Amino acid sequence: MKIKIKTVQVTDIDKLVEISRQTFVDTFGMQNTAADLKRYLANHFNEIKLKKELANPDSQFYFAESGSRVVGYLKINVAAAQTEPDYPHALEIQRIYVVEEYQQLGVGQQLLDWAIKKAVQLKKTAVWLGVWEHNLLAQQFYLQAGFLRTQKHIFTLGNSVQSDWIMTKILEE
Ligand SMILES: CC(C)(COP(=O)(O)OP(=O)(O)OC[C@H]1O[C@@H](n2cnc3c(N)ncnc32)[C@H](O)[C@@H]1OP(=O)(O)O)[C@@H](O)C(=O)NCCC(=O)NCCS
Repeated sequence: MKIKIKTVQVTDIDKLVEISRQTFVDTFGMQNTAADLKRYLANHFNEIKLKKELANPDSQFYFAESGSRVVGYLKINVAAAQTEPDYPHALEIQRIYVVEEYQQLGVGQQLLDWAIKKAVQLKKTAVWLGVWEHNLLAQQFYLQAGFLRTQKHIFTLGNSVQSDWIMTKILEE
């Protein structure tokens, strides 16, 4: 599907809160308690927190747009904005989500290509991300794009402690 990729501005905050919450619930709603989810959304996807993330010069958010509809989004981090300190010369894909009814149409692939292009432009050595150990569909998507599972780390959703795989794609010189 043909999309436009647009840098998210602070004036887009309402749309960003909405798509962040919607895609998170669609992805993780089934596997988590309502209380855990509610607490997670309130803590992570509120206007103040997302505005602060948008203001960080080492983070960028992008919308995938089809016409005027936001059908997906991407958040990338470099330098100290990364959520792990172990990859100083890499770029992190912290969030990549496509709205359910637009999945399997190539939108995620275009967002992933965009992140990799940014990493190359910034002369980063690798692109990495954390993915929930039970999110096998997403892992499959990254594997076919050349990412490898490199290590595990711990992720907390509300009261439950879960494991993420770190997946890494080394970039060519
Ligand atoms: C994981 C995710 C980002 C992938 O995005 P997507 O838009 O569904 O993925 P794409 O359509 O680009 O690619 C997925 C599959 O569709 C195929 N595809 C790509 N373009 C296509 C097209 N035009 N028509 C049909 N299929 C297509 C791809 O080959 C791929 O197939 P494969 O899995 O057999 O390799 C998306 O499914 C998503 O948001 N999932 C829920 C949230 C999530 O898990 N995020 C990751 C958290 S770490």
